[in-house]
Amino acid sequence: MSENNEHVMVHEDKWEKQNEEEGFTLWFTGLSGSGKSAVADRVGLRLEEGYGHKAERLDGDIVRQHLTADLGFTKEDRNTNIKRVSFLAELLSRNGVSVLASFISPYRERRQKTREQVTNFIEVFVKCPIDVCAERDVKGLYEKARRGEIENFTGISDPYEEPENPEILLETHEEEIDESVQKVIDYLDDNGYL
Ligand SMILES: Nc1ncnc2c1ncn2[C@@H]1O[C@H](COP(=O)(O)OP(=O)(O)OP(=O)(O)O)[C@@H](O)[C@H]1O
Ligand SMILES: [Mg+2]
Repeated sequence: MSENNEHVMVHEDKWEKQNEEEGFTLWFTGLSGSGKSAVADRVGLRLEEGYGHKAERLDGDIVRQHLTADLGFTKEDRNTNIKRVSFLAELLSRNGVSVLASFISPYRERRQKTREQVTNFIEVFVKCPIDVCAERDVKGLYEKARRGEIENFTGISDPYEEPENPEILLETHEEEIDESVQKVIDYLDDNGYL
């Protein structure tokens, strides 16, 4: 090992010690239009305003504009996107800033890696039938995908691998947004995170 590498390892080791006040990462996964952003935004507000809890939102649309603008939607690029975000989520949550991450994150194996990497990882499966997502069509993407104008569109021309054992299951076609939000808050409360 060169002296340079040694230095890097010592440096990383120093900073890998756990902060006494850890946060958590709520990882919202689901189809486009399932309600990830809608629920995560509201949970974030409740945490900050109601509990004075430090929280940061990491949302797919915003992260892709800034941190990962170089990436597209192939399997490889999607996984690289999640890999970078997971690194960030770990930095924040281990230092007491909880993270509300909302990403389609369609690949189970990649989500599993994130689970292993991130302090207090809580998977939230935002479940909603694709017909309902397409009916909502918040961003007009389903219509474009139907016309064949978007490649690699999750649920249509790209896979979505459902979580098998999420900590929290939201069924947004049957719940009001506030019910979904309350489910998340209740989970955090019941498990000693608040
Ligand atoms: N129980 C619910 N939870 C969340 N959203 C709901 C619920 N019921 C209805 N909705 C509506 O569904 C829509 C979900 O859109 P949203 O932008 O949150 O989806 P998304 O999962 O973030 O999609 P994308 O992956 O494209 O960012 C919103 O218009 C929201 O008002
Ligand atoms: Mg969203």
